[in-house]
Amino acid sequence: MNNKLPNHVGLIMDGNGRYAQKLGKPRSYGHQKGAQNLKKLCKYIYKKKIKYLSIYAFSTENFNRPPEEVDYLMNLFVKMFTKELNFLKNEGVKVIFSGKKDNLNKDVLNAMKTIIKSTQNNQKAVLNICLNYGSQDEIVDMVKQICNKVVCNELSIKDINKEEVSKNLYHNLPPLDLVIRTSGEQRLSNFMLWQSAYAEFYFPECNFPEFDEQQLDKALEVYANRDRRFGLIKEVI
Ligand code: FPP
Repeated sequence: MNNKLPNHVGLIMDGNGRYAQKLGKPRSYGHQKGAQNLKKLCKYIYKKKIKYLSIYAFSTENFNRPPEEVDYLMNLFVKMFTKELNFLKNEGVKVIFSGKKDNLNKDVLNAMKTIIKSTQNNQKAVLNICLNYGSQDEIVDMVKQICNKVVCNELSIKDINKEEVSKNLYHNLPPLDLVIRTSGEQRLSNFMLWQSAYAEFYFPECNFPEFDEQQLDKALEVYANRDRRFGLIKEVI
């Protein structure tokens, strides 16, 4: 296997509901299995020394789901952030969040605050959790921030460039190299549009709870064999 590894992987964890329905179980069962699977995959990713992992935990649009499902997911987040704090600390993972704080309840916000604070000095890896996230909102917020700097004479229009844009997103993360979306759906659904400008995409058919270490290895192998040209002609690279 070619050992070219991505530095930043994005994971759209889709298909929890369908996984549960296939087994005749409630959707919450799929989310619970998805959460267990996420921990296994994180372990594997950190073992492989992939430094950045961004996960799509909850989009702003997910608030339109039935209230019981939203409540279940919010409670699951609180439970996971609390339960897995020591695991993440021991792995040397810095946890950060992307998304809007409004609409999130006090318990979720407190659990987020605790995990951010307890892991802020970790340096081995970064876990970016997109929660109540939408990439178009992130871009709108970035534009507002930059306009504000210009109005306050802290930034001149001629100095607005790609670096400045990146610095004003929720986090100044390196570009995504590989974006994986499970369950056979082939779209980004408002996930990290700026950061995935040159990403490679991989769309396995299985649902997220079934996307195990072997499946991830397959995704990494496909990635390693892709010809990333960034707009250059083949011979130059
Ligand atoms: C999409 O599947 C999945 C979600 C909206 C939730 C993702 C959450 C987890 C995997 C739980 C663990 C996460 C953290 C951060 C602890 P879906 O419900 O849209 O599935 P469907 O398309 O089959 O209905």
